[in-house]
Amino acid sequence: MRFDIVTVLPELLESPLNHSILKRAQERGLLEVHLHALREYGLGRHRQVDDYPFGGGAGMVMRPEPLAACIRHLQSERAYDEVVYLTPDGIVLKQDICNRLSLKKNLLVLCGHYKGIDERIRQKFVTLEISIGDYVLSGGELAAAVLVDAVGRLIPGVLNDETSALFDSFQDGLLAPPVYTRPAEWEGMAVPDVLLSGHEKRIEEWRHEQSLARTRERRPDLYERWSSEP
Ligand code: 6GU
Repeated sequence: MRFDIVTVLPELLESPLNHSILKRAQERGLLEVHLHALREYGLGRHRQVDDYPFGGGAGMVMRPEPLAACIRHLQSERAYDEVVYLTPDGIVLKQDICNRLSLKKNLLVLCGHYKGIDERIRQKFVTLEISIGDYVLSGGELAAAVLVDAVGRLIPGVLNDETSALFDSFQDGLLAPPVYTRPAEWEGMAVPDVLLSGHEKRIEEWRHEQSLARTRERRPDLYERWSSEP
């Protein structure tokens, strides 16, 4: 799977994508992430990429020409399954969207900055608009890192049996149960007996109960949906 990410701040994305699971996925050829500096498509001697908003108001807007030039250049080299624009007014990213995107081949991702991108780029090129939650970031770059991480780890072969995504929080619509490691007793606090029992069936039941209790307590919205599912 390949991500092409268009950004005014490629430096911001370099480090977060080159560690741990995503690093290994890239080394093993399962994931490719290509960063494209929008400024290289900027206008004039100053490589301008933004301008004042028509109608007035605070902040700058990203001009359409550099974005269009960059998108068209990339589209001339391969077909994209989606052109994603990261924006606080997009649909809020959930596990089901990540699952669906992890089956795609080529994703083109646009990071907005300033007050966002000219609306006409959204109309002409963008096929999917994603937000990572109800708060405002200063740009789409950190959202892009979240998207690549959440989607990249789901690509078949990226995770092994121990890290399998099947048991993630949200994957069955419930939060994950608590986890423990050695020592079995630490500062007077014991690991629940059942986890030391070696009794697989009872451990499974305990984990499921914990998942349910946790979800009911912390995320009544998820619990409601889980209980009413067929
Ligand atoms: Cl995708 N971009 C920005 N700028 N802010 C956000 C966001 C995206 N998702 C939540 N807040």
